[in-house]
Amino acid sequence: MTDLTTLEAELSAQVAAAPDVAALEALRVAALGKSGSISGLLKTLGSMSPDERREAGPAINGLRDRVAAALAERKAALEAAELDARLAAETLDLTLPAPPRRKGSVHPTMQVMDEMTAIFAEMGFQVAEGPDIETDFNNFTALNFPEKHPAREMHDTFFFKPGADGERKLLRTHTSPVQVRAMQRTNEKPAAPWIATAIEPPIRIIVPGRTYRCDSDATHSPMFHQMEGLVIDKGIHMGHLKWTLETFIARFFEVEGVVSRFRPHHFPFTEPSAEMDIGCDRSGGEIKIGTGSDWLEILGCGMVHPNVLRFCGIDPDVYQGFAFGLGIDRLGMLKYGMPDLRDMFEGDTRWLGHYGFSAFAAPNPATGLS
Ligand code: DAH
Repeated sequence: MTDLTTLEAELSAQVAAAPDVAALEALRVAALGKSGSISGLLKTLGSMSPDERREAGPAINGLRDRVAAALAERKAALEAAELDARLAAETLDLTLPAPPRRKGSVHPTMQVMDEMTAIFAEMGFQVAEGPDIETDFNNFTALNFPEKHPAREMHDTFFFKPGADGERKLLRTHTSPVQVRAMQRTNEKPAAPWIATAIEPPIRIIVPGRTYRCDSDATHSPMFHQMEGLVIDKGIHMGHLKWTLETFIARFFEVEGVVSRFRPHHFPFTEPSAEMDIGCDRSGGEIKIGTGSDWLEILGCGMVHPNVLRFCGIDPDVYQGFAFGLGIDRLGMLKYGMPDLRDMFEGDTRWLGHYGFSAFAAPNPATGLS
């Protein structure tokens, strides 16, 4: 029995002196764990005679219970002390200002797209959209690109592997296929509610969206953004085209007016086709739109080719139209002075912080554009 008394005295002293919860746990294992000192004593009960066991059993069990209780009590005390220490150390000063949070910003391309849309919307244009993955038919054939025509190669197209039916889908090289989708008379339901289909003339649509070409340098990126414009009605002529584009350009660059010139060009889907230049001033090292005697090429345009109208089931003897294609990123670079197109798609948050727009600066005709 003296053994038990000594053991209890020792254990009690150790428990009382345990400095932290980890030390206490080590003590618990040493006493009550599988091969602990008290567990060892309990195992000896099995080999005792009934008389011996009658005396030793309650003594050892009592020891175990008292040691377990002492451990639990000390643990609660240590935990309470640890919490008190933490509460004393970790003070929270609610009067301090909150640390600044980094705000996101609207990407210049998206802002410019919204600016352009606001201007065209005011002129009565509706937004039409199409998918990025297009058929060869919509991207080329229906737009009057002849089979095997070099213009197809000029577009440096990303083609997909041919499907089971032999059809080769592609990433659209321009937003012009949405002209076809918008005009085509079809019973087919569009694959998604936002995809334009079978709009009845008079048609006045703009098509903002992503386009893709296998091309990359300071002024070309494999993914870029275009805005297509299409107007179809009776008696539409180049005068309407010129007024619409000059008005748009002046509003977009927020100048009184612009002078323009049309240089003959070739696009398969327009006849006649033109590239539009606008008057600018390059003398100061940067380009100023709306003044000066220099020219800046700004977009491609023309009168919709009768073959395109025929492909889409519209009678070219009844309806005429014009179309144009604008580079959204390029217009943004010109307006906001960004030198390299590739930066636009790098996702560098420092660049975005500098050139990005506040989400509250939503452009519209009432509050202005920029
Ligand atoms: N699709 C042409 C391109 O990506 C741009 C273009 C030019 C669109 C003339 C038009 C147009 O609608 O009439 O190069």
